[in-house]
Amino acid sequence: MHKALYRVYRPLKFEDVIGQEHITKTLKNQIDNNNIAHAYLFSGTRGTGKTSTAKIFARAVNCMNLNNHEPCNECEICKGILSDSIMDVVEIDAASNNGVDDIRELRENVKYPPTKGKYKVYIIDEVHMLSQGAFNALLKTLEEPPYYIIFILATTEAHKIPATILSRCQKYDFKRVKVDDIVLRMKKICNDLDIEVEEKALNLIARNAGGALRDALSILDQCVSYSENEIKYSDVVNLLGTVNIDFLFDMSKYIIEEDTKHALELLNELIICGKDIKQFLTDLIDHFRNLMVCKVSHEVYEIINLPIETIDLLKNQSESVDLNNIIRIINLLSDTQNNIKYASNSRILVEIAIMKLSEPALKLDEKSILNRIQNIENIIKNGVSISKNDNTINNKNDTSKKNENHAKEIKKIKNPDIIEIEKAWPEILEYMKNDKQMSIQAMLKEINDFEMDQNTLIILVEDKFKFIKDRLNRDNEKLYIKSVINNITDQNINVRIELKSDMTTSQTNDQEDEGMRILENVFPKEMIQVKDSIKET
Ligand SMILES: Nc1ncnc2c1ncn2[C@@H]1O[C@H](COP(=O)(O)OP(=O)(O)OP(=O)(O)O)[C@@H](O)[C@H]1O
Ligand SMILES: [Mg+2]
Ligand SMILES: [Zn+2]
Repeated sequence: MHKALYRVYRPLKFEDVIGQEHITKTLKNQIDNNNIAHAYLFSGTRGTGKTSTAKIFARAVNCMNLNNHEPCNECEICKGILSDSIMDVVEIDAASNNGVDDIRELRENVKYPPTKGKYKVYIIDEVHMLSQGAFNALLKTLEEPPYYIIFILATTEAHKIPATILSRCQKYDFKRVKVDDIVLRMKKICNDLDIEVEEKALNLIARNAGGALRDALSILDQCVSYSENEIKYSDVVNLLGTVNIDFLFDMSKYIIEEDTKHALELLNELIICGKDIKQFLTDLIDHFRNLMVCKVSHEVYEIINLPIETIDLLKNQSESVDLNNIIRIINLLSDTQNNIKYASNSRILVEIAIMKLSEPALKLDEKSILNRIQNIENIIKNGVSISKNDNTINNKNDTSKKNENHAKEIKKIKNPDIIEIEKAWPEILEYMKNDKQMSIQAMLKEINDFEMDQNTLIILVEDKFKFIKDRLNRDNEKLYIKSVINNITDQNINVRIELKSDMTTSQTNDQEDEGMRILENVFPKEMIQVKDSIKET
């Protein structure tokens, strides 16, 4: 039977683990100095060596012939662990054993010392999947572990681990593997297997793996069975289908260049290849989101979860499009994504979206000019006039204006909870940054407006950032924001994200504001302000 390449080539020594030297070196030192911790958390992107490193470490701490801090993989204990015949190293998949009972059982077993080796090592994979009760049970063991116990918790989603657990672990963050390193590794494997391969082909595979070595090896594996002992670039292109990263770059290029014809042809290719159109839409939105990050952030390498080389390409592409256009594209694609959920023919909706996207932005303006005229007519009907003398807006019933303003000011006195959150906001953002939640942090950076609705903090988002609202309003994101706020301010409040306009339309209904709002639809806001300031001077 065929054994997957990534299994055959599982690293067996620290030195075989690629791109994680910052971790393997520390672990080796700890073994050297006999300074081993009782609990470790291995976090980071999938397929970057967490489980492999945990297993190497489990052997290294028990090996009878440690050689330069590496397990020998040949002594009785190493062999026993490798063949799963020694029970001193226990692997638990938390995804399928996530209940309180599973962890209680573990706690029972922890009482018994190792049978052969020095340490009993528990590797808990996907640890973020544990239930709350299971975490609590685990915590009890972590609080007072017997001297012979080592826990290695592994996860791709460290932010889901309760702070109480985190604080008892040494934390190691596994990095995405660089494209060049992935290529080197694959070259060596191909050499081993006597397979000829074009450098370009390896490069394409590596760029599509998103920094996960396992993913790269899986693609390589498919290529090997597809083309036997010679792998060409064109084979990889065929195998990946059109949803490879080059495809996203092409599609976005056509959209940015407003080249509808090529964009639709490419979409057609995608459908012929039988690719999932919803997935494609998600990938495309992510791509434009990445372009946006390139435009606005100085920390792109931390925020974007892709290899450096791809990020450089993104940066390049982002220079060919302006921010407003990116935002327009993301909004339109997100709307399409929402509509598709209920549609029977998603293809047409995506085609329409692509056509709309490649329409020059000016044409859309024509439509909005029509809207503006319509609005002017409304204003005339509804009695808001533009005075000839000072170019400012006068409502016909001007007299009550001052009192209303006064009343509004009183209404706007801030809720003390909000004041506290506003004060803590920089710290909250900083916390998220340290927590490696760069994308949530980047979105929240845009925000400086809040309201309170009983026990819920309403985070107000500018209308043009509707996609931020959609993203942050997911349960996981909301829970995360809530937990950070709670951590920093001790306020146990819920969180909700709303668009500014939704909030104002539901709350202000006095005529003056309405008139102002219509006017803002007719003229750009800046124009109104400019005129105001002319009046003042
Ligand atoms: N840093 C690495 N060095 C060498 N090989 C690696 C590395 N990362 C992944 N691999 C390859 O991928 C396979 C899977 O790696 P591993 O299971 O250690 O990843 P992981 O980080 O635990 O992934 P997951 O998050 O999905 O559990 C390994 O058997 C190996 O072939
Ligand atoms: Mg793993
Ligand atoms: Zn050994």
